[in-house]
Amino acid sequence: MNPVYPVNDYGPLMPGLVMAAVAIVHVFLAQFAVGGGILLCYFQWLAMTGRNTTARLFVNGYFKILVLISFVLGAMTGVGIWFTSIQVSAPTIGQMVFNFHWIWATEWTFFSLEVVAGYCFYRYHNQLTDRTNLTLLGLYAFAAWMSLFWINGILSWQLTPGSWLETHSLTDGFFNPGFWPSLFFRTIVCMTLAALIGCIVVNVIPSLDRSEKQELINRAAHLMTPMLAMPLLGGWYLLSMPEDSRSWVLGGSPAMMLFFMISVGASLAIGSYALIGLWFQKLYINGATATLLLFMAFGATAGGEFVREGSRKPYTIRHVVYSNGIRPQDVAELRRRGCVADDPFPVTFESKLPSANIELGAKVFRRQCAVCHTMEGANAIVHLTGTWDTDQMRMNIAKLQQTKPFMPPFAGTAKELECLIQYIRWVKSKRQQNSDEDISQETLERITHWLDEAGTEPADVHGVSTSAMAAREGSSR
Ligand code: HEC
Repeated sequence: MNPVYPVNDYGPLMPGLVMAAVAIVHVFLAQFAVGGGILLCYFQWLAMTGRNTTARLFVNGYFKILVLISFVLGAMTGVGIWFTSIQVSAPTIGQMVFNFHWIWATEWTFFSLEVVAGYCFYRYHNQLTDRTNLTLLGLYAFAAWMSLFWINGILSWQLTPGSWLETHSLTDGFFNPGFWPSLFFRTIVCMTLAALIGCIVVNVIPSLDRSEKQELINRAAHLMTPMLAMPLLGGWYLLSMPEDSRSWVLGGSPAMMLFFMISVGASLAIGSYALIGLWFQKLYINGATATLLLFMAFGATAGGEFVREGSRKPYTIRHVVYSNGIRPQDVAELRRRGCVADDPFPVTFESKLPSANIELGAKVFRRQCAVCHTMEGANAIVHLTGTWDTDQMRMNIAKLQQTKPFMPPFAGTAKELECLIQYIRWVKSKRQQNSDEDISQETLERITHWLDEAGTEPADVHGVSTSAMAAREGSSR
């Protein structure tokens, strides 16, 4: 059973990009909300214990508001992720809900606690004692971090399902090989973001003099010291990744490698500044510099998330669902039955398709390619196939997983493939060519031959077949 779900067409943007953009903004806001909770606790404690008298201004002032804003926007973009992902890949999100039902429920419980604690502090902190306020902030920070804890298990499972592939046990899936390194890594990112935004906020509090500002900034910078552990955790995370994904990141895919380098470079720059400047030399940091560092942190987050999402290719959940929502075990059947034979949804992203074949081809494109490609916008098929003649297109698409190992195998009939090519050629002709080309038996036989040669398994990276890879990954823990 491989049901067809409606997917949305985002015009010149591709669904994968829209998804990544929403996810990056969400992750950034949500991680700040978690780190903000920790920083607020620390400053509340500094104020209460008389270690720093101006810390109270910080806790009760802008920073509190920022944390709340990020937390409200974080929640909204979180809903945005659900909203987008069902339009992009319902099968993926379906699998995540199906396998981790109670984990989601647990996560939402902590989220509710976070909402209640945050609101109580916001509304009543003036009437409450210092101790109660610290308890509320502690509760907020704990609940926020716990929601990270739970969601982290589900997200890391997508890339490193580990022995879950064999056991299907909830614990194996949740505490998968990527769980701990990514949890620790993300926690450090949360604290760093909060510290940087803290530095900006200190700069704009009007009633503080320079030395008071400097002292607060140096305090906030304490939250950046765990960055020292980042190289170690990053290395651990890379090691937990499957071999092929790691090879994309470390050079196999230029785009992925570029984003990885951006992420590492920006983190290094922030880390060195924080440690050398703020921690050892107790420098002052002005609003502009802090803002610049924050932008770099956004770049690092964006790069990191892009790499995490990108290195899962050709899967959204490794060995479970391909990026286009098709399951590996269904490819062989779809080659016989056709991938759009049961697709009831009319083509709305093209008008005036000249023939039934070209319309079928547009549906094939939507079902199998549109998540990572557009026809003429981002990662455009028309450009990528620009220099290929018709036969080259037939062969390279029939052998899709060999053409580029981060693409899934083609999952349709020879006729569907030929229709896809007619559709591509029609778009290439600026949507002018009007003829309905008959498909010859000979063409179909040639395509079938190439499809058979490619097989239905995903690419064989590093000479290891993926079923063997799945078994090995499964037993490696
Ligand atoms: C998992 C995402 C994904 C899916 C699904 C996918 N592709 Fe790709 N494809 C890519 C990426 C990434 C590239 C590399 C683009 C580049 O090199 O700039 C690529 C490259 C290509 C190329 C150029 C190959 C070359 O050697 O230069 C073609 C042609 C192509 N894809 C066609 C398709 C078609 C047709 C489909 C659907 C049947 C499809 N792709 C499905 C991600 C995908």
